[in-house]
Amino acid sequence: MANRQNNPGPCHFVIFGATGNLATIKLLPCLYNLEAAGRIPADMSILALGRQEHTQESWLAHLGKVLHDKFGDKVDNEVVQRFAKRFSYMAGDIRQPEFYQRLRHKLEIPEQNAGSNIVFYLSIIPSDFNTVINYLDEYGFSEPRGLHRIVVEKPFGTDLESAQLLNRSLHRHFDEEQIYRIDHYLGKETVQNLLVFRFANTLIEPLWNRNFINHVQITVAEDLGIGTRADYYDRSGGALRDMLQNHLMQLLTVVAMEPPATMEADAVRDEKVKVLKSMRIIPEDRVADHVVRAQYTAGTIKGQAVKGYLEEQGVAAGSTTETFTAAKVYIDNWRWRGVPFYLRTGKRMAKTHSTIAIRFRHPPQHLFHTDPDEQIEPNWIYLSLQPTESMHMEMHVRAPGLGMMDTRMVSLNASYRKGDEKPLEAYEALLLDVIRGDKTLFIRFDEVEWAWRVVDPILKAWQRGETPMETYPAGSWGPDTRHLFDCHDQEWRND
Ligand code: BG6
Repeated sequence: MANRQNNPGPCHFVIFGATGNLATIKLLPCLYNLEAAGRIPADMSILALGRQEHTQESWLAHLGKVLHDKFGDKVDNEVVQRFAKRFSYMAGDIRQPEFYQRLRHKLEIPEQNAGSNIVFYLSIIPSDFNTVINYLDEYGFSEPRGLHRIVVEKPFGTDLESAQLLNRSLHRHFDEEQIYRIDHYLGKETVQNLLVFRFANTLIEPLWNRNFINHVQITVAEDLGIGTRADYYDRSGGALRDMLQNHLMQLLTVVAMEPPATMEADAVRDEKVKVLKSMRIIPEDRVADHVVRAQYTAGTIKGQAVKGYLEEQGVAAGSTTETFTAAKVYIDNWRWRGVPFYLRTGKRMAKTHSTIAIRFRHPPQHLFHTDPDEQIEPNWIYLSLQPTESMHMEMHVRAPGLGMMDTRMVSLNASYRKGDEKPLEAYEALLLDVIRGDKTLFIRFDEVEWAWRVVDPILKAWQRGETPMETYPAGSWGPDTRHLFDCHDQEWRND
């Protein structure tokens, strides 16, 4: 893992789809924030590519509006001016070869591409991926291998087969070394901190296994609905594909992986792949026992009435796309065999709340209770990713007073931010990593494929209609999923 303060030298950052949704809500604001913090290399230029015609002037006006819409009065005009100087804009149709001729010219790439250092960020619809990577290669942009890199946004396929096809197509034109598959959950501060928490503390690692841990819960709940994304979400999304196959599985690998030999990208990714390879595949005819799917119906979020999924604009009548899923999975390796990992994600849930909760086993003897059969509350390690980032451990202490038997739970706060330190947003961290050529927090082709291997049987069982589609009112914690839990004393933490 490289230091994000290293300066990689002159570089072009080329954004395909610069007027699209992702660029507007994430890429441009995050690049601006990096500019404001003085983190973008001085000699980096940014080329925005889009369909809309723009003069340099009208593009900069558009950029200004994007930033004002995002940050309101907090936009610093001096920073905007500095940022604007990096930009140029080129309009055109990315499906036409002449576009790539102009692109070469625009980037003023020297003969043989000597010394050029370019990031191509594909913020485009997946159906255009193949066309763009074909043309990039045909027009000589895949060389030099070390210095020209390509960033690919999810979805990486919609099932195992399509993911393999996409990987094959990428590998025909680029080396794996050049491909950055982005999963922004890996850029979240808590996820990076989990690596440090686990592997820099001798205190934690000896306990991190089946002998001490009872189960792990990973929840990514959102109070938002699908917004204006019905077109993508209803046809090729759904909670399983849109969230569980990538974001939740990535969180699971970081919780479960073995210590890597080094923090080099491939050493870390090798360990993550090993976890995915050890995951127990759920037989198609047992999916209903292990996985729940559901759709939200009308309800109330933050006091406002909201529509049900089937009433959302753009959702097909009678759609069977799930907006919630919960699953029980197992990792059949030496460290984790027998420990359930409960994964849960949904839209229009009670609140936006993403957590990793690790529950330890009960102590073997309950010395501090008058009733020897009463279970003493177990210890937890609790990490919050959203809405705030925090980490704490829950432990028993003696309650002051006369009663020897009185214990109470306290929370040891392991929050890591000092004073007014501001963490980098996930996209900011990952953009810097791409610029610096660090792939540790990007997904390798085999991670994508192994994660799909786990998810594919679930998709197939659902396509055959084998698992009932439950419903839950918007603003709730989802349908009843109690049957997933292995023991009666296990339940979701919603705090
Ligand atoms: C995206 C999904 O990858 O992640 C969205 O496509 C989801 O459906 C989003 O809303 C959640 O990201 P975050 O960072 O807001 O939790």
